[in-house]
Amino acid sequence: MTNFLNVACKPFEGQKPGTSGLRKKTRVFMQADYLERFVQAIFNAIGGGSGKTFVLGGDGRFFNATAIQKILKMAAANGVSRVLVGQDGLLSTPAVSHLIRLNETDGGFILSASHNPGGIDQDFGLKFNTPNGGPAPEGITAEMYDQTLTISSYPIADAPDIDLSKVGEHAIGDMQVDVIDPVSAYSDLMETLFDFGKIRALFASGFSLRFDAMHAVTGPYARAILQVCLGAPEGSVLNAIPSEDFCGGHPDPNPVWAKPLVDLMMSGNAPEFGAASDGDGDRNMIVGRGIYVTPSDSLAVLVANAHLAPGYKAGLAGVARSMPTSRACDRVAEKLGIEAFETPTGWKFFGNLLDAGRVTICGEESAGTGSSHVREKDGLWAVLLWLNIIAERGQSVAEIMTDHWQEFGRNYYSRHDYEAVPVEAANQLMRELETNLPGLVGESFFGMQVVASETFRYVDPVDQSVSENQGIIVHFKGQGRAVLRLSGTGTEGATLRIYLEQYVDRDADHSVETQAALQAVKSAIHEITRIQALIGRDEPDVMT
Ligand code: G1P
Ligand code: ZN
Repeated sequence: MTNFLNVACKPFEGQKPGTSGLRKKTRVFMQADYLERFVQAIFNAIGGGSGKTFVLGGDGRFFNATAIQKILKMAAANGVSRVLVGQDGLLSTPAVSHLIRLNETDGGFILSASHNPGGIDQDFGLKFNTPNGGPAPEGITAEMYDQTLTISSYPIADAPDIDLSKVGEHAIGDMQVDVIDPVSAYSDLMETLFDFGKIRALFASGFSLRFDAMHAVTGPYARAILQVCLGAPEGSVLNAIPSEDFCGGHPDPNPVWAKPLVDLMMSGNAPEFGAASDGDGDRNMIVGRGIYVTPSDSLAVLVANAHLAPGYKAGLAGVARSMPTSRACDRVAEKLGIEAFETPTGWKFFGNLLDAGRVTICGEESAGTGSSHVREKDGLWAVLLWLNIIAERGQSVAEIMTDHWQEFGRNYYSRHDYEAVPVEAANQLMRELETNLPGLVGESFFGMQVVASETFRYVDPVDQSVSENQGIIVHFKGQGRAVLRLSGTGTEGATLRIYLEQYVDRDADHSVETQAALQAVKSAIHEITRIQALIGRDEPDVMT
């Protein structure tokens, strides 16, 4: 007989889901009742758990295992009938999305703070995905937040922990708990999309790859798919064992945090292809021998070449990118004659377009690319699509990029992050800029003339829902652009993101160093925003 307790609890401040669920310092989540209140708020926001089935798993960071046991016990107490949980509590974010769809569950719980560091003094997060496999839309996250302010107690089973180390069937009261292999269903899905035979032949011919799993969740996936299934030699996947604190690293696949891989790719010993993925496996970085591919360019190349992979040979319905992502893929869409959408930042905004069949591939500048196969971005998917394209084209990454720029022109692009900025100073900068926007048009700054400016507002083409204040865009003459927004995933102060872009056309020089190519746009936007005066710095903490 399982006992159920009803625990009285008081509201916490700030349990408001951001760009990607609720993300806080781990110690905040570890406070008594903190996680529990948010979990109960989720159940309440979706009409309760009674008779429902869910997927549950996370990226293995510190507190993952504890949180999973609590959620299982609360699920049982909320009348849930079945939970599928990854072995050892591990599931990558795209794998959760797939499992929700494959098993037609009522949603899934993802424990992760994505690319943020893990550990007791680092970050933790919880996100709920709906039955379509995608992050809960804003209507539901708003309801969750309201619930966190009003509930006064939560139910929980008084039961022993479940052994998550072995695949098999367990129970808490009447609720069935299936501990499942985290990789196999995902791997099967990849095999339906890509020509595994061709990629196997590529590796058999001696093609060399290094995939940096960054001590995070994609290690087991990359080993199983790239090494065991596709025949990349043992040792091709680096840092493949998930660690609670990512071995002290920052599991963010970009040239700053994945520097060892980028250094290797720029060295004399570089393999032909390098890639990395983040904490929960939804982001990717692509590097060729001697060449780093920006996520925005990667998106454009994938859109231009997707038809070379079996899953996309019928062509793409359309493409969507987040507003700050470079406009490189728009040019490809135009050539292909397909629709191109510009959405606010955050994968959840792609959900409606994907569900409605309006787009097939989506991407964000923050190293996220994915397609209609799931409702999340998917790191390994992007790597496999690149490999499929390379196998078909028989070209190196550098050759593919050169050809691409010659055909479409190049969008030089970089994101500059100013971290832990005092919240008030960051807000003031954004407020001032917004107030000054109308007066900027026609003015010149560092020789750059402003031709248009706007505060980005999105009307969802499918359900007409409106999202206001999604960042500020300043357009310069000569196809330069600067975008400013405040991060919705940071956990300390404010993070100001400045996205710089400069397009040059097909016959221009495509070999200028990126930051040099963006210097004029940078100087102009710095003068416009008075960044030095307002936040006391004009060099970013991180440039990607
Ligand atoms: C960041 C990225 C955004 C991504 C999100 C979740 O959000 O910029 O593209 O969807 O993480 O991975 P931000 O911190 O900018 O709100
Ligand atoms: Zn992530």
